Amino acid sequence: METKILHMKPNRPDQDKLNIAARLIRDGELVAFPTETVYGLGANAYNTTAVGKIFQAKGRPADNPLIVHISDREMLEPLIRFMPPCAEQLIAAFWPGPLTLVFPKSEDVPAIVTAGLDTVAIRMPSHPVAHAFIYRAGVPIAAPSANLSGKPSPTRIKDVVEDMDGRIACIIDGGDCDVGLESTVIDLSAQTPVILRPGGVSKEELERVIGPLKVHEGTTEKPASPGMKYRHYAPDAQVILVQEPERFQSVIDAEKKAGKRVGALVLGDRHVRADLVMRLGATIEEAGKTLFALLREMDRQGADIIIVESMPETGRGRAVMNRLKKAAGK
Ligand code: TXA
Ligand code: MG
Repeated sequence: METKILHMKPNRPDQDKLNIAARLIRDGELVAFPTETVYGLGANAYNTTAVGKIFQAKGRPADNPLIVHISDREMLEPLIRFMPPCAEQLIAAFWPGPLTLVFPKSEDVPAIVTAGLDTVAIRMPSHPVAHAFIYRAGVPIAAPSANLSGKPSPTRIKDVVEDMDGRIACIIDGGDCDVGLESTVIDLSAQTPVILRPGGVSKEELERVIGPLKVHEGTTEKPASPGMKYRHYAPDAQVILVQEPERFQSVIDAEKKAGKRVGALVLGDRHVRADLVMRLGATIEEAGKTLFALLREMDRQGADIIIVESMPETGRGRAVMNRLKKAAGK
């Protein structure tokens, strides 16, 4: 399949090009599109056949449900059975933005979207191109991250092209993703809201609006967020997370001695000696924004091992560390 690539500036959605993408969606095709978190791989959420193509293009297990993306509040009601407590407050505070809410689903949402669950995950992205694209399509867009299953989510156009070129009808290039990590997923269908996946909105920010929150630790037999059980966010290289900063160089040296091509991902301007040194940035937010892209870059440059330093697990750091631990296979 030949993949059409439509380029536009993040802040200036090109309406003519988006009309092409919107028509493809209505025709049951797949379109990858930028959001403020990561690129999504979208299909008309009401079209079972189209949604089926997502699982095929990604090689995604069928028991992992998708997030439904909406452009406007009017798209929400037909997708859900009722508004759980806290939903209005969270929507007012964080939509549009990197927060996904899990609602009791309406009968109109096809089972393939939710992997047979009686809940549906919904998010309203803030990226201007995502908003304009969904609005033009006129239907809610079911979309996982636009990576091949198991790989780090794509946050730059070249990463989307690497995984999806030739597999889907269209890719919208809207530049680099700002957050660089996926949305926070919060389940509102239970008695008390539970964070199922840390992400772009921090626990602290959420608690300021709705009070103390539980975080799902992913230890139960049946994961509440089915996606959390799969190997995720992992580059081909082996990732090693180093807790103590003073051990960083010696861990690198030991791997080099064992004949490995060693890459180091470092915060700030810390000085290290490794075969490849890439900088995550000076702040946790910058680290979140660059992490997935640099994991992919390490693979391209042939790293066998990627050594990364630990960060404090507060604020955005909770999401960054969650992805790093998964990449390291913990
Ligand atoms: O930022 C994001 O969330 C990106 C962009 C494209 O919006 N999307 C994304 O989708 O990360 P995906 O499919 O890679 O991750 C969706 C997560 C999975 O862990 C999935 O199991 C969970 O959301 N999920 C989806 N529907 C759910 C539901 N009804 N109940 C619980 N978890 C659900
Ligand atoms: Mg994903």
